[in-house]
Amino acid sequence: MPKKTFTVTSALPYANGPLHIGHIAGAYLPADIFVRYQKSISNDVIFICGSDEHGAAITIQAKKDNISPQKIIDKYHEMNKKSFSEFGIDFSIYDRTSSELHHQTAKEIFSTLEEKNVFTKKTSEQFYDEKNKQFLADRYIIGECPKCNSNDAYGDQCEKCGSALSPDELINPKSTLSGEIPILKETTHWYLPMQKHEKWLKEWLNEGIVDGKNTHDPKTWRSQVIGQCKSWVDGGLKERAMTRDLDWGVQVPIKDALGKVLYVWLDAPIGYISATIKLAQEKKLDWEKYWKHGTSEVIHFIGKDNIVFHCIIFPIILKELGGYNLPTNVPANEFLNLEGRKLSTSKKWAIWLHEYLTDFEDKQDPLRYALCSTAPENKDTDFTWKDFQARNNNELVAIFGNFINRVVVLTHKYWQGKVPETHNLSSEDQEILKKLALFPTQISLSIEKYKFKEALSEVINLARMGNKFLAETEPWKLIKTDIERTKTIMNIAIQISGTLAIVCEPFLPFTSKKLFNILNLSPVNWSEAGKSFIKNNHEINQGTHLFSKIEDEEIEFQLNKLKN
Ligand code: MF3
Ligand code: ZN
Repeated sequence: MPKKTFTVTSALPYANGPLHIGHIAGAYLPADIFVRYQKSISNDVIFICGSDEHGAAITIQAKKDNISPQKIIDKYHEMNKKSFSEFGIDFSIYDRTSSELHHQTAKEIFSTLEEKNVFTKKTSEQFYDEKNKQFLADRYIIGECPKCNSNDAYGDQCEKCGSALSPDELINPKSTLSGEIPILKETTHWYLPMQKHEKWLKEWLNEGIVDGKNTHDPKTWRSQVIGQCKSWVDGGLKERAMTRDLDWGVQVPIKDALGKVLYVWLDAPIGYISATIKLAQEKKLDWEKYWKHGTSEVIHFIGKDNIVFHCIIFPIILKELGGYNLPTNVPANEFLNLEGRKLSTSKKWAIWLHEYLTDFEDKQDPLRYALCSTAPENKDTDFTWKDFQARNNNELVAIFGNFINRVVVLTHKYWQGKVPETHNLSSEDQEILKKLALFPTQISLSIEKYKFKEALSEVINLARMGNKFLAETEPWKLIKTDIERTKTIMNIAIQISGTLAIVCEPFLPFTSKKLFNILNLSPVNWSEAGKSFIKNNHEINQGTHLFSKIEDEEIEFQLNKLKN
């Protein structure tokens, strides 16, 4: 098959705080799994991410902490970059939107759009906080959502129902800076008339057709993503301001626009492009291959609160620019809760990635496993420490780890680590080998459908099959009466281990590496998975434990930490 090219992006996290498990489960782990898989089947893939360093999320946080926005972003950019890397989220680049190249790229794109008359410039009355001498938009203004009546909708979006809003739609708006009711004051901004785009958006979302060309199969999109988009477009789109009166952000590249910056949701997604340009400069690649002329599939991994920006606003921008590929899929996740409650940075109800990595050193994969197993792919789900412990102890340790341990110990005990040859295959053996051959295809199909939870359960099912095979055939007893049969069984078990090392890699990269080391092999391509590719007499290494039990005390400790 010819190589495919993928441009995979994960939502750029705001550099205003540390990452928690909700972020990871939503936009980063699934993308990493997808990317690792695409690499293992030899496709060309770049994985783009970085810090989102503009917008009110940053400036409000800076104000709260009483330090400069620059200090905030420098701190959390480094911290989040390190946590991602330690957790094995393997970005091709982790860029930042405060970079010179990003500012330049965003300005160029704005100018191009302005030249193409994409925006309408308009002067109107906007909410203004007299005390703080500042116009109020986005997170600077809060009120009741006109759509779902949630009480804490922001000026640009209700995070409860995901609706895109403008400040004048909020019921009882209040300044988040002073808590006061704002006054109205005139200001000029550049607007994106989204209503002009309803027709083609509908065609693109419903049929996967743009300008008469097929771009993707809409049936491959998650129903809740399509559902949200359709309901917005059907409900009628409005114009939306693409500039702000703020001093933090990318300056509007127009002479008479002093003191105005780009709306953060215009600038941030452009960050995907500027990060690609930077990566291309470093690696001597052609960045346009990853974004233009249909040469690549662009896939955006996000949380559900980002759907409108990635499925409506950014596609409008890309379409207007011309030549850019629209996303082939936006596999947005729902939300992950923690111990039955909504994750919340401000209420400190969270498991912080950097703290987890300190408390559970070398246990990246158990968390990756638990988060993928409970991933909110189609509905909100709940993460609990007890469930995390159970998955580690009952699945990773008792099934996967136990199987590998038996394989390694017995091979060393009977044949000094040398892989024994097979003799006559029983019908049972043939059955197992047939099943083994089917697993990789099943796992591939699930990953390609963005069903990572389903794919991972097949991985553990393969380990389960191996474990059961040994438990039933009992080679440790058989060795006394039938050496040839024992050799055959162990050879098959070793082949299962080899396939496990390949297919677990996207999900459990640290484990895969350890397992390849134990098997004394360098990483093997996915195309070999399911086959008996480990040769007779090949010498495997002594085992190290792949997983270790998590004790009740450790879980108690975490629960207490959370509750205090
Ligand atoms: N910073 C945003 C958030 O955390 C996500 C930005 S995604 C991008 O919700 F496309 F704009 F980059
Ligand atoms: Zn709402």
